[in-house]
Amino acid sequence: MRPLCTRLIDTDECSCPSTMYIDFNAMRHNLEKFQNVLSSTTKIMMMVKASAYGAGIEQISQWAENTGKIDYLGVVYAVEGVKLRKAGVTLPVMVINIYGIDIDFETCRMYNLEPVIYSISLLKQLVHWLKENDQGTFPNLHIKMNTGMNRLGLEFEELPELLAILSDCFCCSLTVKSIYSHAAASDDPQEDRYTNEQANLFISSASAMEQGLGYPLLKHICNSMGTLRHPQFHFDMVRIGGGLYGAATCFLPYLAPLLTAISLTSTITQVRRVKKGSTIGYNRRGLVNRDSLIGIISIGYADGLKRHLGNGHGHVWIHNCRVPFIGSICMDYAMIDLTDVSVENEHELQNESVEIFGHHINIEEVAKQCDTIVFEFISTIGQRVRRVYINENQSTNLTSPGDPVV
Ligand SMILES: Cc1ncc(COP(=O)(O)O)c(C=O)c1O
Repeated sequence: MRPLCTRLIDTDECSCPSTMYIDFNAMRHNLEKFQNVLSSTTKIMMMVKASAYGAGIEQISQWAENTGKIDYLGVVYAVEGVKLRKAGVTLPVMVINIYGIDIDFETCRMYNLEPVIYSISLLKQLVHWLKENDQGTFPNLHIKMNTGMNRLGLEFEELPELLAILSDCFCCSLTVKSIYSHAAASDDPQEDRYTNEQANLFISSASAMEQGLGYPLLKHICNSMGTLRHPQFHFDMVRIGGGLYGAATCFLPYLAPLLTAISLTSTITQVRRVKKGSTIGYNRRGLVNRDSLIGIISIGYADGLKRHLGNGHGHVWIHNCRVPFIGSICMDYAMIDLTDVSVENEHELQNESVEIFGHHINIEEVAKQCDTIVFEFISTIGQRVRRVYINENQSTNLTSPGDPVV
């Protein structure tokens, strides 16, 4: 049988109709905005979990390290930390959610990843594992307190038992680096009383731990919005994620202007004329009430384009024009109504790029149309979508650095 192709083609060479652009110029700008509200001694942990919110964990973390302004990286799973180490990232990495199983402890030791202790039983499992695998040092630990989020974390009342275990001479070689908690509603002015109560419980927990251990810990409770809205709770470190992408306009009243760092585009694969009364797509949901020009773009719900946007609920940007989706979003395609786009020849539109969100179509508006939040939208953009990084001082006509988020 003859080979189908005379050479092996690298996947990077293949055409890819949809692209997520990540603009490091905008991210640098946003980082500087955060630095401006922090004291010079407050450290920054950048959350790069969930593939850095969909932006690409290795590239974003390498950028973070190269800025020289980020002190820590935060991931959820040990396997995410391993990716960082394999990409040559040397910053300290905090791992939020290890299970009490050997492979996680072994991975932390092997790759110098710093696990979070969020329960007494997890600490006991670690001690048990250390006794069975006593091969020298183990990375720093972090303590997670539950102060009202009611997700992972220790209760204040559990601290004496935690301290008793840690003071056992076998654990003397273990170092606790930080203690932290997570505010449930740091973005919501109506919940500021609750946030204050959380912070006060956190302060008591931190001082009990420092007293019990006899040495100072890094203390942190603020995420991006907490950092902007509650400067009195910056303590020694803040943990920021979404704010660096400028992904939410709700940040603006506090820190105008953050810049949008992420945009999503796709390509028109085919255009077709349809007669008044025709229907578009599955279940004939899209009805055209005039002779129309329809564009088929190569992105669908398998790529993270939510079905909520179909049937006129969402829009894309093309040729300085906002045009609606028509018909339901399919798995690999979506249809848009190009009738009002003025072009001399409709074939000019074929292979044209459309913006799904970015500088003209606001990501927060798109997320609202999908009945979700920006973070869910961007972190679920599929792996078929190519990630393109705009390096600092490089610009493209698709995302012009300097455009505010609005
Ligand atoms: C524990 C923890 N800290 C910090 C963050 C960062 O939050 P944000 O992206 O809002 O800055 C997150 C994100 O969900 C988190 O889970």
